Amino acid sequence: MQTGTDVVYAADLLRKGKLVVFPTETVYGLGANAFDAYAVARVFSVKKRPTFDPLIVHISAFEQIEQLFQSPIDEQVYTLAKAFWPGPLTIVHNKKPEVPDLVTSGLPTVAVRMPSHPVAAELIRLAGVPVAAPSANLFGCLSPTQANHVEKQLNEPDYLLDGGQTIFGIESTVVSVEPGGVRILRHGAISQESLEVHVTILTEKEVEKSGQLPSPGMLKSHYSPRKPLYIIKESNFGKINEESGVIINSSYTMKNFNGIKTISLSENGNLCEMAVNLFAALHVMEDDPEIKQIFIEPVSETGIGKAIMDRLRKAAYNYDTEGKP
Ligand code: TXA
Ligand code: MG
Repeated sequence: MQTGTDVVYAADLLRKGKLVVFPTETVYGLGANAFDAYAVARVFSVKKRPTFDPLIVHISAFEQIEQLFQSPIDEQVYTLAKAFWPGPLTIVHNKKPEVPDLVTSGLPTVAVRMPSHPVAAELIRLAGVPVAAPSANLFGCLSPTQANHVEKQLNEPDYLLDGGQTIFGIESTVVSVEPGGVRILRHGAISQESLEVHVTILTEKEVEKSGQLPSPGMLKSHYSPRKPLYIIKESNFGKINEESGVIINSSYTMKNFNGIKTISLSENGNLCEMAVNLFAALHVMEDDPEIKQIFIEPVSETGIGKAIMDRLRKAAYNYDTEGKP
């Protein structure tokens, strides 16, 4: 796969139906012209992603909202867009018939976001089309927050725009705008607390009453490294040995891991810093041949901590069998 920093060239490729990997403020995305169903089909194939899991469409200007969402567009869409775009919030709302069904997996809704990363914004602007892009990893595997994470997993895309380390390190928050409120489909870089300042969040109960289907991509297992991962708790603490890699939250906790490879996500327990470093730490542990299993310290579930714990539970799901039926 060709790698570089030529945004003009990359935008031209997108217009020609090619696939471009690009940095966003959250994670790297694998992009295609959203209105080119053939290019979108290749995204699913390159990522080995099941076609029942729909893609996010990325835009660079507010006018593109009306290109994708069917009118009448709920006022809450504009409230959220005004408050959080450009930025790591994805809004799901009724789609226009012109949006290819492949993008939305046949759903009547489409997911849209306007990234704030300058390279992503420039790429979409120059391409002149909305860009459908899932995270640039193989389906179910660790998300990429650096260009080399992408190269580990994919080689079929036509170009990789290298923009260094991403800013938030964790995916966007996905919300569905519904009559009377907004429902969080995926916790992410924008916290529930900041959403609540602007809109009403529908609770699980209200959601059940509305009879809506959950987001198709919300699988129990996801974001997984290729070796066992365990969230540290009292019952498995004793299993940490020389063949383990340990990821901790701060250099002040649990520092008695002598001779065991340890990575600290944040020196002072800062949740945002932990999110930024989370996937990179998991990639390092995944790549180290001496490490047979990974242990990670849980974080408090406030703010972006909710999104971090969501990723960790899904990443550990296949290995952490305790308490499961
Ligand atoms: O930060 C991000 O969101 C990154 C960057 C590249 O923008 N993208 C990303 O895409 O994480 P992906 O495909 O890995 O995750 C998109 C999620 C999936 O869980 C999918 O099921 C959900 O969004 N989604 C997409 N369209 C939807 C829709 N119409 N209704 C409900 N959920 C939808
Ligand atoms: Mg993903």
